[in-house]
Amino acid sequence: MDDRHNGPVTKDGIRIHQPADFEGMARAGRLAAEILDAMAPLVFPGQTTAEIDRVITQMVTDAGAVSATIGYKGYQHASCISVNHVVCHGIPGPKVLKDGDILNIDVTVILDGWYGDTSRMFLAGRLNRKSERLMQVTHDALFKGIEMVRPGNTFGDIGAAIQSFVESHRMSVVRDFCGHGLGRVFHAPPNVLHYGRPGTGPVLEEGMFFTIEPMVNLGRPETKILADDWTAVTRDKSLSAQFEHSIGVTADGYEIFTLSPADNFHPTWGS
Ligand code: MF3
Ligand code: CO
Ligand code: CO
Repeated sequence: MDDRHNGPVTKDGIRIHQPADFEGMARAGRLAAEILDAMAPLVFPGQTTAEIDRVITQMVTDAGAVSATIGYKGYQHASCISVNHVVCHGIPGPKVLKDGDILNIDVTVILDGWYGDTSRMFLAGRLNRKSERLMQVTHDALFKGIEMVRPGNTFGDIGAAIQSFVESHRMSVVRDFCGHGLGRVFHAPPNVLHYGRPGTGPVLEEGMFFTIEPMVNLGRPETKILADDWTAVTRDKSLSAQFEHSIGVTADGYEIFTLSPADNFHPTWGS
């Protein structure tokens, strides 16, 4: 028995963490959020995504943490950087950002054994109305989901809140990727779907830790994976956005572990 993994697990395989565990998650989550806070000045037309990832790698090391993604299923970078029609798992590289690009930067760190996983959108250069609307709806959709987090509600309540909000804005929720339980592991039960029906799915209990990370497309929801086996793009080439927080269920609601210390979660409006 692995003594890092104490405490009960529900019939759905979801670990119930102890009150003291919230502190470890908060520290890991804060570090991941601080790293994203430091990225804003590095995102500009002419910048490469490799350079952004290089700084992230350095910051993880300097903090005495470990990247959760380097070595994960063969992935070799400390971040995923997903530009424009890339839905998620964009690989940092020599690609040069251009004016008007929108990008998600996703960082997961391991600090003292706890995983902090967060992503948010950034803008290179000037904002256009279409991208602004997509990022605003995606950001707000994440919070529609978060607002459903309390003991007694279900994971279906989270998914339904996100889906109905997004579709009311005539955008689509990606079905091919979901949020996940985490804690002392990167990806654990449950799959946190960003669509669904109220009242369905596992019941939320105090001590559950998971991410909510909706991906929203301006066009259709379908995705495909490029030949690099990682990069997921929209099939119809429409723009895609994503925001992600790591969250714990408390006695009467939730704690967001990955809040931005600089209050800079949203690229232009504040968190
Ligand atoms: N951080 C991503 C998530 O939100 C996972 C990235 S795995 C990688 O779950 F290998 F692509 F980095
Ligand atoms: Co995640
Ligand atoms: Co992530």
